[in-house]
Amino acid sequence: MSGVARLELDGTVYELPTYVGTEGERAIDISKLRDTTGYITLDDGYGNTGSCRSAVTFIDGDAGILRYRGIPIEELAGRSSFVETAWLVIFGTLPTVEQRDRFSTLLSDSAMIDEVMRKHFNAFPQSAPPMAILSAMINTLSAHDAGVTQIEDDADMERATAVLMSKVRTIAAASYKASIGEPLVYPRYDLKYAENFLHMMFSVPYRQFEATPEVTAALNLFLMLHADHEQNCSTSTVRMVGSSKANLFASCAAGVCALWGPLHGGANVAAVQMLQQINDSGMPVAEFVRKVKNKDEGVKLMGFGHRVYKNFDPRSKILKKSVDEVLAQLDKTDPLLDIALELEAAALEDDYFIERKLYPNVDFYSGILLRAIGIPLEMFTVMFAIGRMPGWIANWKEINDDEKSRIYRPRQIYVGPTGVQWQPRDER
Ligand code: ACO
Repeated sequence: MSGVARLELDGTVYELPTYVGTEGERAIDISKLRDTTGYITLDDGYGNTGSCRSAVTFIDGDAGILRYRGIPIEELAGRSSFVETAWLVIFGTLPTVEQRDRFSTLLSDSAMIDEVMRKHFNAFPQSAPPMAILSAMINTLSAHDAGVTQIEDDADMERATAVLMSKVRTIAAASYKASIGEPLVYPRYDLKYAENFLHMMFSVPYRQFEATPEVTAALNLFLMLHADHEQNCSTSTVRMVGSSKANLFASCAAGVCALWGPLHGGANVAAVQMLQQINDSGMPVAEFVRKVKNKDEGVKLMGFGHRVYKNFDPRSKILKKSVDEVLAQLDKTDPLLDIALELEAAALEDDYFIERKLYPNVDFYSGILLRAIGIPLEMFTVMFAIGRMPGWIANWKEINDDEKSRIYRPRQIYVGPTGVQWQPRDER
């Protein structure tokens, strides 16, 4: 507690404790408000509600700052792999050599899924969305290895983390293989995290896929940029579910469902579809911007705007640079990148976007990077889910480690009918 705020209600002054976080963020503690005053706070969409105290990720949306465990995203990008970043996000510090080696071995040892579980993939229709398969199969994991849901100490947590992070990659690749009618590919023990995923995605029984270092680096960058983003929709969902003491796997499966929506993780698909439509229709960018501003048929500039960033999303800056480099290294061009650059330039000097502080978010360029490394559109949101897994695990761990943690249970203001009486069927 750092001070008090005074609130006058119905002639009585109440004192509420205030808190200041380590980065100077300020909050009024209203946890006793209802007990003492009879009032609750009303905050549709939770834009002003601090749902927890967390030591994982810091975002300053006005300054365009993102830090994992205190380290700026720009310092991690290109230096720490996804696995090293995951350790940092989940366990709080960059891993020592010994921790890194142990965790890598655990990940490699956990890559296979139960042979019986492989059969589940045949039960989904070929048209099943990979996000539906992913959420179902993450839940199924705990049914096949019940021990992994019993987390009593740090070693249990490390093992559960490795099982979830490693198998989610195998499940994701298997869901893609099932969707295109190809046999599922077993993981390889000699390959690191990102390469192993690409192998399971693109190898076939008669031809091994060899990922180039550039593609592997681009995938590592994509995943580490998505590793956490504080209390977003899916992470809050994981915390909400975890607060009921639901296990890690059930909680993260719920996170996948929350991520699926087009206003959240699904936006990377929507952004590429939007660019593709502009490309295919030959519509001038200025005309599309006009439609967005007129809110014609609810058209939005997908990949633009963010609840927290009211300045550049730092991840989008890193991705924009990386997309250029990867395309050059792979000797590829992408007409969608040209449209994206033109759209961004038009939006950034347009009053509609300036006044509303709408800037490119992570999804504006991430789809173009995924296309460059050969990931099909249907898998984009799944890729986001693999990347976000460390953040979900870290937030679940915070709840699990906190002995004072309570079940999340918001209140509401009821605005429905009152005093309505039941009517017999023939009188309705
Ligand atoms: N294109 C056009 N107008 C927009 C956009 C956009 N992408 N985003 C917001 N606006 C407008 C709104 O219409 C609204 O205008 P108004 O004041 O005239 O009514 C104003 O900007 C404020 O927008 P809100 O919807 O209130 O902003 P909110 O914080 O609720 O939503 C969100 C944030 C969901 C990200 C929104 O900007 C959006 O829909 N963007 C497109 C989808 C997207 O890219 N999502 C990915 C987010 S990042 C992530 O999840 C990883």
